[in-house]
Amino acid sequence: MSDPATQPVASYLADPADVHRVLLLYSGGLDTSVMLKWIQDEYDAEVVALTVNLGQPGEDYDVIRGKALQLGAIDCRIVDAREEFAREYVLRAIKANAVYGLGYPLFTALGRPLIAKLAVEHARASGCDTIAHGCTGKGNDQVRIDATVATLAPELKVVAPVREWRMGREEEVAYARDHGIPVKGGTELAPYSIDDNLWGRSSEGRWIEQLDHPPEDDVFGLVTRPEDAPDVAEIVTVEFERGAPVALNGERIGLVELLRQAAEHGARHGVGIVDHIEDRIVGLKVRDIYEVPAAAILLPAHQELERLVGTIHQNQFKPLLDQRWAYLVYAGLWWEPLRSDLDAYIEAANEQVTGTVGIKLYKGSARVVTRTSPNAVYDAQLATFAESGGLFSQAASPGFIELWSLQSRMAWRMRSGATG
Ligand code: ARG
Repeated sequence: MSDPATQPVASYLADPADVHRVLLLYSGGLDTSVMLKWIQDEYDAEVVALTVNLGQPGEDYDVIRGKALQLGAIDCRIVDAREEFAREYVLRAIKANAVYGLGYPLFTALGRPLIAKLAVEHARASGCDTIAHGCTGKGNDQVRIDATVATLAPELKVVAPVREWRMGREEEVAYARDHGIPVKGGTELAPYSIDDNLWGRSSEGRWIEQLDHPPEDDVFGLVTRPEDAPDVAEIVTVEFERGAPVALNGERIGLVELLRQAAEHGARHGVGIVDHIEDRIVGLKVRDIYEVPAAAILLPAHQELERLVGTIHQNQFKPLLDQRWAYLVYAGLWWEPLRSDLDAYIEAANEQVTGTVGIKLYKGSARVVTRTSPNAVYDAQLATFAESGGLFSQAASPGFIELWSLQSRMAWRMRSGATG
């Protein structure tokens, strides 16, 4: 039996003595740049950097690669995973109407299992024994990444220096200075902590931690302030086939491009700002400012169509599964079999979700205004206030009501002590 005192807290954590070549998930920012150097010095190990493109706007991957190599990485791999992210992750989320809490469409939560899966693939391909990431010990991302690595690659170990070292931002900046690591954007004011991809953007830190502090304008990096949005409303139409958005305003385009264009429309009209207090996996309650212009259009459009083609029973049941799906994904359990079991049902339900939805965008609001579907469980003839002829017999309704209310009436009578 091994001595519990010398056993690592978790099976997947690296023993420093066994760290020789590290696959570092590298963003080019301060934390992971300091890590790139620190790992080489601390473990006397080689570093292979991996940067994943999930459609976050405004990245210069040549600059990131150059920086990694300059800081001593033996290789820097840039992977364009936008297509896989859109198809295998965001599309499932759309079909699951996936939102956590009161409005977080899970863009970060969806991206992490893919990033970690790619880390595993590239670690194996480049002979690494360890994967390093820049997550703190307070967040959800460590759970998502560690859980993915431990699930997919039990032979690989993990180091998370930010979780271990006790450097604050000032020490990190000092370390960067001492080691010739460029710090962009000045060093006085800590910037917002940003995470983004083609499905959304989050900001944390600074005044956002004061719950009574309304959003300052400089936090918005994606979405126009509703006050500044155009005075003229715009209707965007989204066409779906079996739950997948395939065309925008009548033009068929690939999913990545469709997500980008939907975000552009939403952003212009100030749509998709979410000021969110969130229950994290690890118990903390934290505030995030989200900008999710594409999700603010596509999720309501999808949900509208799904409800149009579903029966009352399907429409009451699926949100329960959707909510469970969103929580599993939020909570870092992408590889949990229940998630794929749920996906099987969600896929089946989406078989019917074909049609077109129009959404009106105006100064921060996105409202469904039109919907059509060949599969709609809807018959204007039946729904009309005018007489429907033999299709729907209003004469049958009283008999239905008699039986429908039978138990309720019996219970009411017994509980109110009424006699006879
Ligand atoms: N609260 C969100 C989540 O847990 C967004 C996290 C943003 N991540 C980050 N590293 N800043 O998914």
